[in-house]
Amino acid sequence: MRILIADDYADLSSRAARIMAGQLYLKPNSVLGLATGSTPLQMYQELVRLHKEVGLDFSEATSFNLDEYLGLAPDDANSYHYYMHQHFFSHINLPQKNIHIPCGRPADIEKECLDYDRLIWQSGGIDIQVLGIGTNAHIGFNEPDIKFEATTHKVKLDEETIEANARFFAAIEEVPRFAISMGMKTIMHAKKVLLLASGENKADAIYNTLYGGITPEVPASILQLHQDVIVLLDAAAASKIRRCLDDNNQNLRS
Ligand code: PGA
Repeated sequence: MRILIADDYADLSSRAARIMAGQLYLKPNSVLGLATGSTPLQMYQELVRLHKEVGLDFSEATSFNLDEYLGLAPDDANSYHYYMHQHFFSHINLPQKNIHIPCGRPADIEKECLDYDRLIWQSGGIDIQVLGIGTNAHIGFNEPDIKFEATTHKVKLDEETIEANARFFAAIEEVPRFAISMGMKTIMHAKKVLLLASGENKADAIYNTLYGGITPEVPASILQLHQDVIVLLDAAAASKIRRCLDDNNQNLRS
């Protein structure tokens, strides 16, 4: 696991975009696992800039998003379909047929979940999975206590997540209570993981993820077992792990 600490959110975003761009330069037909939320927003802006200004090419790439709220139509301004098209897909040359986001209104949810995992598998698997992290250390919508072995599945959102996401909705009552999310097993199968966290309110979650025990109560902690993880933090999100990093460096020096 590599832990990189950026100065601030802008620095984190440009580093994240460069890692994603590097992946595409090395493998133009990469399978990208994508995330929503406020954290990756500026990374997407930077990738759009690289596409427009230096021709970063997405034409051979494929994408799979982590999750979607259940009950929201793709044109609902709070759906993750809408977010992805507004902030990213409508500005780059990733072919529509290569874009995958779980359906928020599936006719048959079991089938939707199975088909989603099957499609990921048929595409050769995710080369790099971008993750944000919740204040409760969820990744995707895998809330604390959900079994580590889950593949794509229906999730009941935690109160903490509903409260955190209420800022995007007119009222907290409008936040969907359920979502469809890649499971921890799906995420752990990604060949590389890029975990992003920004802000003081993520400092505890990052500390517990990296230095606590591996437990479904801290969903992101399973990443300690993944063979290729980049944890990219800004200084505020890294504030609680600084001491551990300093101690480690001290040990290495002594
Ligand atoms: P955020 O959400 O990027 O909006 O903080 C992250 C998450 O809940 O996974």
